[in-house]
Amino acid sequence: KILILDFGSQYTQLIARRVRELNVYCEIYPYNNVPELTEDVKGVILSGSPCSVRDQEHPTIDLNQFMGKLPLLGVCYGAQLIAHEHQGEVTPSTIREYGRARLSELHTANRLMKELTPGSVVWMSHGDTIKEIPDNFEVIASTETVRVAAYKLRDQETYGIQFHPEVTHSDEGKTLLRNFVVHICGCQQDWTSEQFVDATVAELKQQLGNDKVVLGLSGGVDSSVAAMLIHQAIGENLYCIFVDNGLLRKDEFESVLDSYKHMGLNVKGVDAKDRFYSALASISDPEGKRKAIGRVFIEVFDDEAHKIEGVKWLGQGTIYPDVIESMSVKGPSATIKSHHNVGGLPDFMKLKVVEPLKTLFKDEVRLVGKTLKIDDNILGRHPFPGPGLAIRILGDITPEKVQVLQQVDHIFISNLKKSGLYDEVWQAGAILTPVQSVGVMGDERTYENVVALRAVTSIDGMTADWSRLPYEFLADVSNEIINKVKGVNRVVYDISSKPPATIEWE
Ligand code: XMP
Repeated sequence: KILILDFGSQYTQLIARRVRELNVYCEIYPYNNVPELTEDVKGVILSGSPCSVRDQEHPTIDLNQFMGKLPLLGVCYGAQLIAHEHQGEVTPSTIREYGRARLSELHTANRLMKELTPGSVVWMSHGDTIKEIPDNFEVIASTETVRVAAYKLRDQETYGIQFHPEVTHSDEGKTLLRNFVVHICGCQQDWTSEQFVDATVAELKQQLGNDKVVLGLSGGVDSSVAAMLIHQAIGENLYCIFVDNGLLRKDEFESVLDSYKHMGLNVKGVDAKDRFYSALASISDPEGKRKAIGRVFIEVFDDEAHKIEGVKWLGQGTIYPDVIESMSVKGPSATIKSHHNVGGLPDFMKLKVVEPLKTLFKDEVRLVGKTLKIDDNILGRHPFPGPGLAIRILGDITPEKVQVLQQVDHIFISNLKKSGLYDEVWQAGAILTPVQSVGVMGDERTYENVVALRAVTSIDGMTADWSRLPYEFLADVSNEIINKVKGVNRVVYDISSKPPATIEWE
């Protein structure tokens, strides 16, 4: 595997994703928490950073633990750090170099630069530049404005590159990364989802033996894939719980429960609608609603987990970005070890935790789901927030409002599917506003609610843009909603991007 040491760059996760797209396994660690260098580590990549090596307090590590022993690639700040620590000269750039540049001089005889073409576009994003390199370094690529765009140490497999090969704007970035991880580090390209499934199921069998595991299914991709992996390892000893909180989409509970049973999972559906509705009665503050839902979920789950005799493990669908976040450069101490506050936790949280997806990115979870033959109806589903429709009903929640919103949402989503637009949208839903407006229906004046439709395109939900749905489509959906749903007489479409707005309204 490849180790990626993170110095706080916004692109670190992208390096990992590119390496994994080459079917090579890699792990990210914060620079101040380098793991032991076991035999399977074949090379190390140092990430970029928002810091400057010219700052007194710049982040650094002992480079001697890798240099000359393992292939090492410094990217941007990583390259500057290696140069700086070897008496190279790093100075502020005269112009801030940001954006596309072209490689003008390329030593294609060098193994890192093999098969790259002169003139190839690379992505630059740096405020410092490497002005001078020591004698035992050689320049292996330049651009018009940056002489030291890439270098190599003459007597060892240590490289530095000023540009970002991990960003898709770097045309041949992937070729460069392949040169490093495959040709220079000698990694096998055998890390595939099939291999992941086989290895993980074998490990889970070993780890869990005859123990029982309890796992909460949400209908989402992560918990479903985690469940199928554990199920393959231990079969009926995995007890899944799927809670109806009364805040799901129309008919969703029944149809998802059916899919789960179809997949062979040992799953229990728990109707807890009334417990959620009574906990939510007259709460209109969004955070208050979230807290109440979280609390009741834990109570319901704890009750159910207690019914499973001798259960030892809690299965969770935690994925890699959550893990990276919890041990990030910014807050290695922010993770509170659960055994430090066991006293106040519900019983099920004292169970040992098994998290089979904790090394995977979201798109890899989907690939594993495909390998496991999980229904497309679960894998291809839009994200849906944990608190469900509760944060799409502005103000307090009543079962009647939930029903109105479910009907509206259902019309919107089923039309998206019918028109082939569902997969073009990252997330879609409807919001029931507390605003009432005047309308006419037949000869009568009405005074009913306004609903808003929201559909966005996004990669990861961090930023989003509103979907340019066709006018005709919106017209049809609006007509159908107003004609069919009692209590709604006006439909609006949300055309705000995130930022500055958010995807949800609460
Ligand atoms: P925002 O509204 O912050 O939403 O732009 C970003 C993504 O997060 C989802 N979301 C939530 N998911 N619990 C969740 O599990 C929540 O409280 C919550 N709030 C927002 C939202 O649906 C979108 O995908």
